[in-house]
Amino acid sequence: MANVPAPIDATQTPEWSSLQDHYAKMKDTFTLKKAFANDPQRVKKLSYDVNDLHFDLSKNLVDDETLRLLVALGKAVKVEERRDAMFSGVHINTTEDRAVLHTALRRPASDEGKFIVDGQDTVKDVHEVLDRMYAFADRVRSGEWKGVTGKQITDVISIGIGGSDLGPVMIYEALKSLPRAVDVHYVSNIDPNDMAEKVKGLDPETTLVIVVSKTFTTLETLTNAREVRTWMLDQLKAQGAIDGSEAKTAEAIEKHFVAVSTNAEEIKKFGIDPANAFGFWNWVGGRYSVDAAVGLSLIVAYGPKVFEELLSGFHAMDTYFLETPLEENVVALMGLINVWYANFYGAESHAILPYDQYLHRFPAYLQQLTMESNGKSTRWDGTPVTSKTGEIYWGEPGTNGQHSFYQLIHQGTHVIPADFIAFVNTPNPNKDGDQDVHEVFLANFLAQTKALAFGKTADEVRAEGTAEWMVPARVFEGNRPTTSIFGEELTPYALGELIALYEHITFVEGTVWGLDSYDQWGVELGKQLAKKITPAFHDDAALADQDASTKALMNYYRAHRK
Ligand code: F6P
Repeated sequence: MANVPAPIDATQTPEWSSLQDHYAKMKDTFTLKKAFANDPQRVKKLSYDVNDLHFDLSKNLVDDETLRLLVALGKAVKVEERRDAMFSGVHINTTEDRAVLHTALRRPASDEGKFIVDGQDTVKDVHEVLDRMYAFADRVRSGEWKGVTGKQITDVISIGIGGSDLGPVMIYEALKSLPRAVDVHYVSNIDPNDMAEKVKGLDPETTLVIVVSKTFTTLETLTNAREVRTWMLDQLKAQGAIDGSEAKTAEAIEKHFVAVSTNAEEIKKFGIDPANAFGFWNWVGGRYSVDAAVGLSLIVAYGPKVFEELLSGFHAMDTYFLETPLEENVVALMGLINVWYANFYGAESHAILPYDQYLHRFPAYLQQLTMESNGKSTRWDGTPVTSKTGEIYWGEPGTNGQHSFYQLIHQGTHVIPADFIAFVNTPNPNKDGDQDVHEVFLANFLAQTKALAFGKTADEVRAEGTAEWMVPARVFEGNRPTTSIFGEELTPYALGELIALYEHITFVEGTVWGLDSYDQWGVELGKQLAKKITPAFHDDAALADQDASTKALMNYYRAHRK
């Protein structure tokens, strides 16, 4: 807790009480329809441009007073002070006593010497690793780096889980319209089905494996890494590419395995040459690490220039978040509005609806970012939280979601704030006859937020000749909150901005709730128990130690195992 003041209990501030009073008035009277009719300036007032992203917050359940109070709450709990502390390397991750410096990962080299944290020139260290990764990626991409039989690498298997997988996969998919030098196959699950499907059809002679694990102790990743090592060596032998000698085995591992981790010791133990390892630091949380060495597969696939653009996008959003006063700071406002819904409107979840197929893994990525960060009941000083915390993030790309779960968002009984994300330009323009298909797609993006906000009245339904008894079923109440994010184009730069946007939204919410958004103790218990349960498949004494339900399930397994 050194240098970190105790959290300010938001619920005990006058601003929280004012928000409660304000909510009591708003809940039955505020409608988006009236808000738009009464204030012709509403859209203008609630629109923000940050570089090449445009934000429209006007279809949120807020008025001038709501925003004023939310900003006041943000100030009361010292969002700005904590933000500055985070950017400057204070150990705001109290339970692990660590700085939280993912923002240093995207600082330009010209910032070297300016961010000495715990005696470390963070930006210099970052650029040293980046330079090594770029040089390595260039060698693989150009064909200078060869497999053990002298063939060029065409495929990469990237092994990692959680933050060591979700970010790389999401970005790999998001940038697929760009040319790439290799195909990357991401294996995360310890379920052998995942590995079996991913290695199908791959030639080990032209395959490079990247093992990504911050700790290099994660069960799934190490099991998969050993499995792929066996696959690689067995296949190479079977193809006559290597003999079984120790020297050739070591050479095959050297030429086909590289690692990304903070744990140099464990990498060595696995047999990977430390010269082929790329490090990062314990001030980078796993779910905040895709812009560290964890992004190596992306650099190999898309090249250093694309990664640099991505980092510039991240940095642009960091700079905006750091330098823009809270009342005009759309990143902070989005975080505070999420608190408004979660704590006052009782919203349980938050939908992420990208109108861009390339962003199809973005909701899954945000699930870890937001829920592993803010799914907590204890504050950063060890005291219990005083309000509901965390939001359940979920989503699918539009328009697919429209034909699936949008029904519940439009007419269900839950309040579900939703972020709609779309881009003006597509890398795949297409016409259906004379009709631009991207425009049909975007019409859906626009139509959905419009329907959710303004709905359809009973009179409008009646006017369509609907039988009276059926009118209620066809009414759309409206007043369902959405934020629209409209970008010029899904470039690496825009993607970097989007990721940083949600990192900082998560930070703002975590600060209001008093959370250490950078630890994840909640994942530990299951890991420990799995270790104790594993022997019970075959060992009766270990089985006897289990609870009744686990015993019964295990007995079912034993009875039915083929
Ligand atoms: O189990 C959760 C977690 O610790 C995540 O926070 C992390 O991203 C993931 O596991 C993978 O960890 P590692 O990169 O150390 O293998």
